[in-house]
Amino acid sequence: MAILVTGASGYIGSFACVRLLGEGFGVVGIDNFSNSGAEVVERINELAPKKLRFYEADLRDAAALDKIFKAERIDCVMHFAGLKAVGVSVSKPLEYYGNNINAAISLCECMDRHDTGAIVFSSSATVYDGANEMPLTEDSKTGGCTNPYGWTKFMCEQIIADIARAKGWTASIFRYFNVIGAHESGRIGDDPSGTPNNLMPYITQVAVGRLECLPLNGTDYPTPDGTCIRDYIHISDLIDGHIAAVKNANKNAGVNFYNLGTGRGTSNLELIETFEQINGVRVPYRATKRRPGDLAVTYADASKARRELGWSPKKSVEDMCADAWRWQKNNPEGYGRNAEKP
Ligand code: UD1
Repeated sequence: MAILVTGASGYIGSFACVRLLGEGFGVVGIDNFSNSGAEVVERINELAPKKLRFYEADLRDAAALDKIFKAERIDCVMHFAGLKAVGVSVSKPLEYYGNNINAAISLCECMDRHDTGAIVFSSSATVYDGANEMPLTEDSKTGGCTNPYGWTKFMCEQIIADIARAKGWTASIFRYFNVIGAHESGRIGDDPSGTPNNLMPYITQVAVGRLECLPLNGTDYPTPDGTCIRDYIHISDLIDGHIAAVKNANKNAGVNFYNLGTGRGTSNLELIETFEQINGVRVPYRATKRRPGDLAVTYADASKARRELGWSPKKSVEDMCADAWRWQKNNPEGYGRNAEKP
């Protein structure tokens, strides 16, 4: 069985490739290197017991996709590729809609041409409406996204669910909560270009001395310590969920939505303090104003994935902090790009 991983050299796709190859799957990777480079593919091959069959191509290029689907027998697609910088999506909406939506359509069209009937899609908790009560279940209201990035996830979910229902495909749509951590080897991890938008890569870059001080966005939220609360999940547990979906594909035919989180909330301050304690490093921060669009508290009810996929997250917030730090400490400049690259 061969699995096509899109976004194979990205943060989550690269981890998926290593784990899938370790599980004995045939893995075909595709990436256009818009936000990564060939070094990641080399590191995947260094960590995995089998070689990744890798293609540099853009998902919107139908001819290139056809070539890959002809050369490889693809039984299942894991679709991770996509632009994901929330702030940029606000200033460049057409780039985000054009890339993320057209890539999903092109990929599904190609799957249809080549009779590939299974897809796992990397969606986000950002598709849930901000007015929902916590914890979020898969039945919580969706829509009302606060930025174009969120809308592309919302729209891609719809596109994939519709084509899967029409063609009788199996589609597992995972709504990720806050994915952090890195491979325990410290060889692959999150390497955002430019200044990080997300909390954990910002923390690790401050700790390693690449950035001076962490701006802590808002300390006046109605939470016990005044900072936002999020549901952090280790990338290793996240990918376990994907593998459980592939292994259970027969039992879980049709279109299924699953939250992937731990169900536990951690405040921004708690995350900073845990990182400092477990790793013995300092992360200077200063309180700044709230970031527009942020909710005070989000966490998952992930019981559906536990129940239906037999999945359960195993890693603690301490594990997440230790692994994220090992990656950054061993790779202060990530995979080697200039930290200021826009
Ligand atoms: C964000 C996106 C979400 C996306 C997810 C993963 C928004 C509103 N949401 O989730 O759509 O799916 O990333 O890419 O952008 N923080 C700081 N200082 C920083 C960075 C973050 O205090 O330098 C705070 C944030 O304000 C927030 C918390 O840390 O309170 C978590 O932020 P982040 O890591 O960006 O995740 P989300 O906002 O939950």
